[in-house]
Amino acid sequence: MRATVRAMGGALTTPLLPEDFAGLINPLWSRTALRGRVVEVRPETDRATTLRIRPGRGWRGHRAGQYVRLGVDVDGVRHWRTYSLTGPETPSDGCISVTVQALPGGVVSPHLVNATPAGTIVHLEAADGDFVLPEPVPGRLLMVTAGSGITPVMAMLRTLAARGQLADVVLLHSAPNAAEMIFRDDLHALADQHRGLRLVTRQTRGEGRVELAELDTLCPDWRGREAYVCGPVGLLDAARAHWANAPARLHVEQFTPPARTGGGCGGEVSYGEAATVGVDGETSLLEAGEAAGVPLPSGCRMGICFGCVLPLRDGQVRDLRTGEVHGEPGDLVQTCINGASGAARLDVPTT
Ligand SMILES: Cc1cc2nc3c(=O)[nH]c(=O)nc-3n(C[C@H](O)[C@H](O)[C@H](O)COP(=O)(O)OP(=O)(O)OC[C@H]3O[C@@H](n4cnc5c(N)ncnc54)[C@H](O)[C@@H]3O)c2cc1C
Ligand code: FES
Repeated sequence: MRATVRAMGGALTTPLLPEDFAGLINPLWSRTALRGRVVEVRPETDRATTLRIRPGRGWRGHRAGQYVRLGVDVDGVRHWRTYSLTGPETPSDGCISVTVQALPGGVVSPHLVNATPAGTIVHLEAADGDFVLPEPVPGRLLMVTAGSGITPVMAMLRTLAARGQLADVVLLHSAPNAAEMIFRDDLHALADQHRGLRLVTRQTRGEGRVELAELDTLCPDWRGREAYVCGPVGLLDAARAHWANAPARLHVEQFTPPARTGGGCGGEVSYGEAATVGVDGETSLLEAGEAAGVPLPSGCRMGICFGCVLPLRDGQVRDLRTGEVHGEPGDLVQTCINGASGAARLDVPTT
């Protein structure tokens, strides 16, 4: 019966679907576009803010440690970025949260931190990512985080605490100083409430960050623990080296784009009918298109989420991480990690 009513509604409202009207009345009701409403803005430090968001219909939940692609309009242009979800897996109020640290000169993060009041509608995609705890949860865990790298781990700690499974976790966390430590009070409160959480914090400006060479002292049984590491590239590289003999025990989450190889020749790239741009050898196809005002899809901007792929029609592209030149007509190209290598043409969806 419901299906029939919906079908009749569809016939009466063609070419728009009833869902389209629902989305106009309340953006969270849309079944075709997932959105969320910011219901609370909570400063964590001078430059980091938690946005609590009520997701619309279609939100399927998340696993602790996963991220969400979030779309926001800045100066009339839609930008997508990726943020770890910081709340527990089953929030009692049905809301999700992200905690954003403003990157000086960044396009989206300062906007989310400083210019996104409660009531703002943001665009969302389904939670994704494999930086998650296995089931069943291992008996002993080690988390090593620095700066905003605490965010996915905070979701894990909150989830374990809510399930009564915060049994044996060592968290080694570095932040510039006490004032800039995201979740400082929450972390200390968790450690006070749960004897199974051992918290070691370092203020990098005075003491230097936690070094993995100290693990034998700070966490002597680290080899027997499942390890989760999130922070700057240097920390992640050090972790991969440290766990070289047991890589399966190490899980890392990277927020920063990978280093680029120089030496590309660049080329002239056509973005559908929208623009033709001279792209130098160091710049990604995504950055060059955006700089020319072409609205392009994107997400993590570092080759993880595939939110930026576009079909290649002609020419080839160059992987900025490895220098490899590749591509054939019809290939889907990740524009965030590929640059120009001679003339090329991309298909760009019209919005
Ligand atoms: C899986 C994943 C989870 C993430 N979770 C979080 C999170 O919980 N909280 C959070 O604050 N951020 C998180 N990020 C980073 C976030 O997606 C953005 O990269 C960040 O907010 C910067 O966006 P922007 O638009 O302000 O900067 P942009 O305008 O995109 O970049 C400005 C310049 O800074 C460089 N840059 C981009 N990102 C970084 C970075 N993280 N560190 C240093 N330089 C950078 C760019 O290469 C560019 O040169 C996550 C990223 C990933 C991939
Ligand atoms: S934006 Fe995520 S892979 Fe390109």
